[in-house]
Amino acid sequence: MNNIKLFIAALLLPLTAAAQTVTSPNGNVSLTFSLTGNGVPTYEMKYKNREVVKPSHLGLELAKDKHASKGLHETSLMDGFTVTSTKTSTFDETWTPVWGQYGKIRNNYNELAVNLTQPSTSRRMTIRFRVYNIGIGLRYEFPQQDSLVYFVIKDEHTQFAMTGDHTAWWLPGDYDTQEQETQESKLSEIRSRFHDAVNWSNSSVAVFSPTGVQTSLQMKTADGLYINIHEAACLDYATMHLNLDDKTMTFESWLTPDATGMKGYMQTPCQTPWRTVAVSDDARDMLGEANSLIYNLNEPCKIKDTSWIHPTKFCGVWWEMIVGKNSWNYTDEFPSIKLGQIDWNKVKPNGRHGANNAEVRKYIDFAAKNGLDEVLVEGWNVGWEDWANHWKEDVFDFVTPYPDFDIKALNDYAHSKGVKLLMHNETSSSTRNYERHLEDALNLMNKYGYDAVKTGYVGDIIPRGDHHYSQAMNNHYQYVVEQAAKHHVMVDAHEATRPTGIGRTWPNYVANESARGGEYEAFGGSYPNHTVILPFTRLQGGPMDYTPGVLETQLKKWSDNTSYVHTTLVGQLALYLVMWGPVQMAADLPENYAKYNDAFQFIKDVAVDWQDSKYIDAEPARYITVARKAKGSDNWFVGGKCDEHGHKVNVKLDFLDAGRTYDCTIYADAKNADYKNNPSAYTITHKKVRRGDVLKMTEAPGGGFAVSLIAK
Ligand code: NOJ
Ligand code: CA
Repeated sequence: MNNIKLFIAALLLPLTAAAQTVTSPNGNVSLTFSLTGNGVPTYEMKYKNREVVKPSHLGLELAKDKHASKGLHETSLMDGFTVTSTKTSTFDETWTPVWGQYGKIRNNYNELAVNLTQPSTSRRMTIRFRVYNIGIGLRYEFPQQDSLVYFVIKDEHTQFAMTGDHTAWWLPGDYDTQEQETQESKLSEIRSRFHDAVNWSNSSVAVFSPTGVQTSLQMKTADGLYINIHEAACLDYATMHLNLDDKTMTFESWLTPDATGMKGYMQTPCQTPWRTVAVSDDARDMLGEANSLIYNLNEPCKIKDTSWIHPTKFCGVWWEMIVGKNSWNYTDEFPSIKLGQIDWNKVKPNGRHGANNAEVRKYIDFAAKNGLDEVLVEGWNVGWEDWANHWKEDVFDFVTPYPDFDIKALNDYAHSKGVKLLMHNETSSSTRNYERHLEDALNLMNKYGYDAVKTGYVGDIIPRGDHHYSQAMNNHYQYVVEQAAKHHVMVDAHEATRPTGIGRTWPNYVANESARGGEYEAFGGSYPNHTVILPFTRLQGGPMDYTPGVLETQLKKWSDNTSYVHTTLVGQLALYLVMWGPVQMAADLPENYAKYNDAFQFIKDVAVDWQDSKYIDAEPARYITVARKAKGSDNWFVGGKCDEHGHKVNVKLDFLDAGRTYDCTIYADAKNADYKNNPSAYTITHKKVRRGDVLKMTEAPGGGFAVSLIAK
């Protein structure tokens, strides 16, 4: 039987293994596909005739599973291929994102689809390449076929062979967390730096190789090319890491396994996510165009009516807990929590419970007075006494408030003032428990008028023993987003896998944390250049709930916390521009904003959703300056952020409308400001400006600047 199949397959196969090249619409990027002698799919990529990816192999290794006898499952999709046919096509369309950096995005590429057959198994696989002016996307597609129905992925072997020992901004590859500091080193130095790069105190550490790194990976070549490797549309598939062979400087995909070590459970027809390589000789393109590449490789919006999805500025009962002044839990008596069995009125309160009626009202008043849309309240629901013991599975039910949080009265009060509460669902990674309660949790949100939820996945995954970035977990995050969409609820997921542009298809997925957030400034701090790296890496696939706006950077001024924020006060304002996203927190306490009320004005004024964005200058880990036009208005906002060395930039206002005057307010670091010793020295200047005027800005060490330009 097999022989007959082989014979028929051989008859159908033209022997066309010749190399085939596709170029991008402007000709800058080219991709060449070929089969090597033993039928291994191979590609290489060039930018302006300079090699970016040297010939690199493509393929997947399949696992031997217990059904192997029924379908040759153990045979890998790695070699022995012949090309059945190829198809080239062109696509050019401009679409309108619901939110983001741009009001319109052009999706323009040339495509090559290579249809392959493996005669020894009669299996068919298509490799699809899309070549854009900013880079490439490639993915594997598995058509429905008798010889490949179900299969298990042992690993994916997509290679990215680099041309040299590039500088890289990398996070240690880890199946569970990306809350580390980014390292800057040559590729050859990753191995020796790896151990120190891992945050071993994080309970979920799961590193896999001393040369394993995460995506999105930003690199720079010695001759000034910026290269970024990431993935797009990671759906029903494990998150991809990269493992470096540091002899050949070749990266290979390394998927997140499940608890059994397997990496993907597939049923044809299906496909992998897109593997992306963005490239440019201008670092600014890595922030704008490269982000659009990821969105372009995702499917169009699947939500018909998106009118309920809106940009959101929020404050919250949060920073006071992160800093350690107040608590999420209601009592310190640590009762053994069994939901429904506790008479909460008999439990002794600890007097530090943040989410109490008076405190929440204070934040509602503050939001209403200052035009903030929502108030996040964490620690409102019972279970925080023992939340780390999530193996009990019933720690949180997501619907039962503590006795000092009157959910109805507080929501009514907020609504009467034009403000909404923002829901918080910490799952403590008990995902089965969350799925069990999700419908009730979303109904509760609908009942009281919440339209956004911040979810959280702290701790080990129960009961799967799985990793945060596995296929099953990615399916969980996606399930929550899709269920939330049915209830018109926006999702901001913390500790979930890093985004891959899914916010295009599901724009209610408005934010992720999925990196080292602002909270780490209360846990000892982050490097001053942290926020001029993240836009090159973490933000490639979508926005981050970074929680900026901490104006009292010296935490000891109001708490026992001796950490300090590693930016100047003005540097915090700049984050609203540099760390773009439709959901932005004003993270500090109302009393701190009262202290710096004139600087807080910028947070009140700044937009969070953009019609256009123009990067003025940028260099990874050094500085980023960007001007953005607010959606639905003629106002512009400009922000610049730098590392610990300071930065000077001339901002030419050539993006403003001709013949118009703008009220310009400049928030700048004072001459002697610096993030460590003099963070809150700033100046605020008002003037009138017109198109073509130049603002000469000086940023302090760890500082930045922020400008509002209000059209008259
Ligand atoms: C970690 C999140 O990043 C933080 O924002 C949240 O407050 C805690 N988990 C508790 O859910
Ligand atoms: Ca976190």
